[in-house]
Amino acid sequence: MEIKNKRFLVIGGAGFIGSHVVDHLLKEDVKEVIVYDNFSRGSESNLYESMKDKRVTIIKGDILHRDFLEKAMRGVDGVFHLAAVWLLHCYEYPETAFEVNIRGTFNVIMSAIKQKVGKVVFSSSASVYGNALELPMTEDHPYNNETFYGATKIADEHMFKSLGKRYGLNWVGLRYMNVYGPRQDYHGAYTAVMHKIIDRLEEKKKPVLYGDGSQQYDFVYVGDVARANICAMKSKATGKNYNVGTGIGTSLKELTEIIISLFGAKTSIKYEPAGLTFVTNRIGSPKMAEKELGYVWKTDLKKGMKKLIEWRKKE
Ligand SMILES: NC(=O)c1ccc[n+]([C@@H]2O[C@H](COP(=O)([O-])OP(=O)(O)OC[C@H]3O[C@@H](n4cnc5c(N)ncnc54)[C@H](O)[C@@H]3O)[C@@H](O)[C@H]2O)c1
Repeated sequence: MEIKNKRFLVIGGAGFIGSHVVDHLLKEDVKEVIVYDNFSRGSESNLYESMKDKRVTIIKGDILHRDFLEKAMRGVDGVFHLAAVWLLHCYEYPETAFEVNIRGTFNVIMSAIKQKVGKVVFSSSASVYGNALELPMTEDHPYNNETFYGATKIADEHMFKSLGKRYGLNWVGLRYMNVYGPRQDYHGAYTAVMHKIIDRLEEKKKPVLYGDGSQQYDFVYVGDVARANICAMKSKATGKNYNVGTGIGTSLKELTEIIISLFGAKTSIKYEPAGLTFVTNRIGSPKMAEKELGYVWKTDLKKGMKKLIEWRKKE
């Protein structure tokens, strides 16, 4: 879709990734960016800079309020749908997860169809894959998921696929790997570890890892993920899900060593017994997104981690 002079709705736009999508949209020649968020986890501080742009409007709204959502989509050309409850919340409160992630996404799809929205770019997750059966995981990797969060994302992907086909809605789903960067949550299932390592180094203590540190993830910088959203909207792609990652696996031990080196510290890592873990090994092939969305990641872990540390200092 050509995005010049178009109007966009960013659902969940006050959150971690959504606020970066807003920032990146504003770098383009778009006409209007409407943020739709219930602020259950998002915040105005995430939108502090973007709110200075006259093209931005903020609507405090819930995706469970279908009439209100439908009205917000009136005259909108493209929708970015990022609102969801997160992994640990789904673990604790499956009923809420069902309502928000499944019913809420159903509302987004039906509202977009009703308002004849040109395209919806939706945030799925690498959680649909569960632990990797083969590496790197391509988009054909089986749904090996065992979490309820992953189950809601699988349901969402299938609602987009079936209802999109039935009613002719253009959509793209993005399966993010482990997203990190400025504005990331302190309590996130995977991001908390970064904050805690940095906390310990700031306190001049040894960083602590739970388990043996061999768990491998594909860490992808939030600015790259935001760009992937814009690429997906601009592309001709429709009706498919794409990995958004780097294709590079980094163990928690390696991640900790990178952070230690950024601090110029000379310390070893303290290992403690592992707590609750969901997935221990996940690396996604970025090839299909590169070919069909024109998306190439740019920020390596060292550079991205430096940006995270700088942001923490400012905060
Ligand atoms: N952060 C990651 O590593 C990661 C990885 C894979 C997928 N995802 C997916 O990406 C999307 C964005 O994730 P994030 O990390 O930015 O999370 P986030 O919690 O920071 O952002 C989600 C936003 O949605 C809003 N929201 C929640 N429920 C809502 C509702 N009922 N109505 C309206 N707004 C609502 C929240 O207030 C928040 O601003 C989510 O769909 C998430 O599942 C994230």
